Amino acid sequence: MADKEKTFQFVIVGGGIAGVTCVEQLSSQLPSADVALITAGPHIKAVTNYKQVSKTLEEFDVEEQPSSVLEEKFPNLTVIHSAVRSLNTNSHTVETVDGRVFGYKNLCICSGARPKLLAQDNPYVLGIRDTDSAQEFQKRLSKAQRIVIVGNGGIALELVYEVEGCEVIWAVKDKAIGNTFFDAGAAQFLIPSLEAEKPEAAAPCKRPRYTTEEPASGAAQTFTADRTSRRHGSDPTEPGSALGPDWHEGIVLQGVEQGSRRVSVEYQCEVEKVFTSEELLNSPQQTLRPESVGSWPVYIQLTNGKTFGCDFVVSATGVMPNTEPFLHGNAFAIADDGGLQVDDHMMTSEPNVYAAGDVCTACWEHSPLWQQMRLWTQARQMGWYASRCMAARVLSEPIELDFCFELFSHVTKFFNYKVVLLGKFNGQGLGPDHELLVRCTKGHEYVKVVLSHGRMVGAVLIGETDLEETFENLILNQMDLTAYGEELLNPNIDIEDYFD
Ligand SMILES: Cc1cc2nc3c(=O)[nH]c(=O)nc-3n(C[C@H](O)[C@H](O)[C@H](O)COP(=O)(O)OP(=O)(O)OC[C@H]3O[C@@H](n4cnc5c(N)ncnc54)[C@H](O)[C@@H]3O)c2cc1C
Ligand SMILES: *[C@@H]1O[C@H](CO)[C@@H](O)[C@H](O)[C@H]1NC(C)=O
Repeated sequence: MADKEKTFQFVIVGGGIAGVTCVEQLSSQLPSADVALITAGPHIKAVTNYKQVSKTLEEFDVEEQPSSVLEEKFPNLTVIHSAVRSLNTNSHTVETVDGRVFGYKNLCICSGARPKLLAQDNPYVLGIRDTDSAQEFQKRLSKAQRIVIVGNGGIALELVYEVEGCEVIWAVKDKAIGNTFFDAGAAQFLIPSLEAEKPEAAAPCKRPRYTTEEPASGAAQTFTADRTSRRHGSDPTEPGSALGPDWHEGIVLQGVEQGSRRVSVEYQCEVEKVFTSEELLNSPQQTLRPESVGSWPVYIQLTNGKTFGCDFVVSATGVMPNTEPFLHGNAFAIADDGGLQVDDHMMTSEPNVYAAGDVCTACWEHSPLWQQMRLWTQARQMGWYASRCMAARVLSEPIELDFCFELFSHVTKFFNYKVVLLGKFNGQGLGPDHELLVRCTKGHEYVKVVLSHGRMVGAVLIGETDLEETFENLILNQMDLTAYGEELLNPNIDIEDYFD
């Protein structure tokens, strides 16, 4: 190993939201500290227009910026443009791929995660992770007639909604779409958005109470939609469109055909095999043959027995934490999901090594209303809190787990609806011991409340419901709501009057 070039008081690895927030907070709190940010690319991801919407809800934009912006703002910050190749926790050093060695007193690993791919090194299988891969996707899509999207999380949901002029076959392993974020009821609410956008009279279909989820009807559903001009405000040719929360904005997701969105959903299936047309023709198993062999570059066989030919497959089946460069020779405790285990001070099992964002797994005893999800908001919160913890230790000050980890909250947009998720919004970990209240107005709003022993523990709000603050308060104060019963969701009653 080369000689140590320099030892920094703090070394942060990764120029994503977690790493950049950590660097900014550290450099503001301890302006004379010697801080280094090690990141591979020339750009960093910064949080802009940060807005605290309520006690726990926050909104912000994510922007790609040249890293020089950070160095100008914080004179005692050094940005090192390389990737970490290895870590030696005994000697407190990291080595970069360009062969340099840096010492650290405290290290924070914020190296993020990458998409799990169905097939490694298959040119017809794409994962979307950063701006480059999003552009590659757009380029390939512009020549595509049919694609298969595999996965049921946020990225799959957005893609299915945004792609036009190309047939989409959407394979989900669950019995409803968007299972990561919703139950079957919310999925049914959203599905019409995949069909024609006929102006519908808002007919309230109040469904008072249910405790079991509705099964999806049939094994496959097909939706077609007329092409509606639904491009968002920004100009697709605008330079520097970053992969932020609206990562597809400004990217035209348009296939070769003009016109409709055509989505078929294949429920409750996973990918059995991906193969080329040659492999298909040479296959002795006639059963593999799709109805029309055609001449697709790639074929995908699903566990429901169906085989589809397509131009390419998008793999949106979740992420794997980027831990490899840090593991060799060290003894990190790794969680089941592959993340670096961190305690309630964002500390890993190795001394003076912290981790934040997608790369880590929160292994403290969670608040009953919080769960980890690998999202922008949590990357920011963890990066911020990790820097506070590091500073507190250096200053020998005590620090308590931040309030943001009390209640899970997330604001996003799906199928052009505002979506707010609070607490155990899907009854996560509650078992059968909970009750749901639902109010739904087709094409307008979907409100679901999760109650446990008469107390609100979670909510899903789709549309402009204006209920997020009231519900957040009801969840935080754990008031007994038994007396209110279904009136809680009566649209003719202003519930704020009850509780203020
Ligand atoms: C297509 C897509 C859409 C998404 N949409 C949303 C959304 O709408 N809302 C939402 O909340 N979340 C969304 N997410 C999730 C969100 O992007 C992540 O949760 C968040 O970016 C995690 O931030 P991070 O800082 O932990 O990691 P990242 O943003 O992944 O940053 C990791 C950084 O570490 C660097 N790095 C990695 N390895 C090394 C190494 N060995 N040495 C040095 N540097 C290294 C990388 O270059 C990168 O700069 C989306 C994700 C994807 C892929
Ligand atoms: C940078 O650090 C030095 C000491 O290491 C300190 O004197 C100086 O004020 C710091 N710069 C800023 C802008 O805080």
